[in-house]
Amino acid sequence: MTADFDSKKPFIIDTEPYYLATGDEIALFSAAAVARLPVMLKGPTGCGKTRFVEHMAFRLKRPLITVACHEDLFASDLIGRYLLKNDETVWVDGPLTRAVRMGAICYLDEVVEARKDTTVVIHPLTDNRRTLSIEKKGEVIQAHPDFLMVISYNPGYQSVLKDLKQSTRQRFVALTFDYPPPEDEARIVATEGCIDTDTAMRLVTLAGKIRNIREHGLTEGASTRLLIYAADLIRNGVTFKSACMAALCQPLTDDDRLQETLSDLIDDLL
Ligand SMILES: Nc1ncnc2c1ncn2[C@@H]1O[C@H](COP(=O)(O)OP(=O)(O)OP(=O)(O)O)[C@@H](O)[C@H]1O
Ligand SMILES: [Mg+2]
Repeated sequence: MTADFDSKKPFIIDTEPYYLATGDEIALFSAAAVARLPVMLKGPTGCGKTRFVEHMAFRLKRPLITVACHEDLFASDLIGRYLLKNDETVWVDGPLTRAVRMGAICYLDEVVEARKDTTVVIHPLTDNRRTLSIEKKGEVIQAHPDFLMVISYNPGYQSVLKDLKQSTRQRFVALTFDYPPPEDEARIVATEGCIDTDTAMRLVTLAGKIRNIREHGLTEGASTRLLIYAADLIRNGVTFKSACMAALCQPLTDDDRLQETLSDLIDDLL
């Protein structure tokens, strides 16, 4: 076994993550990977973005390194730092540097949350230079041919302060995700939640209604992820009503009036 293989191994996905395609996203992503174009995934929470990237990493046989971005994430967290080890300072690559060196897919989840200084790092990697500059070491690395940058963000949460700059946006091809069409979503919920298709379809119908009342003050509808949670509860003996209350209504809002409206929607389906 080579050292190269050893370093990649923890990031290789060796069993196929289940993913039901709802459009041409697999073909688009595959083409972008061959063309070495960075990819941006846009869409609401829990609609399948992360699962899709995992599935594509498996299909393309590339390691996947995921970074969940947050407001305290600095460029140095992505690149790496000197650490003290037995009285010696040693350089430790950060997740992005590792991905650039080994030819992995680097998935920056919720990228708008990261500090602004990260864009300085992202830009040279996502245009035709494909370079990463490690200032602390005075080193510039050329990305491995298989390196692929993927970012995701939820346009629903974006504020004026936290929007991506045009100069960043225009370095990516974008794939827009949304909740799958009802038949597909029911298949996903039945498969992932191990329940029968009829019950899955009822959950999806309810989700459709919840998603339609957004104008009453819900910022986002019930996600596919929450439908699977409801299915998990039902499979473990919870009634349809209780499962929907616990997984689909309560997590969405603290507003009593909205809760009542949501509860009525469930009763309509009983
Ligand atoms: N098309 C799909 N095929 C298979 N499973 C799916 C699909 N869409 C959603 N799922 C299921 O929904 C769950 C939530 O999806 P995922 O974690 O990928 O959402 P996300 O878009 O990354 O959300 P977030 O923005 O909150 O990170 C997955 O774990 C998976 O079970
Ligand atoms: Mg995700």
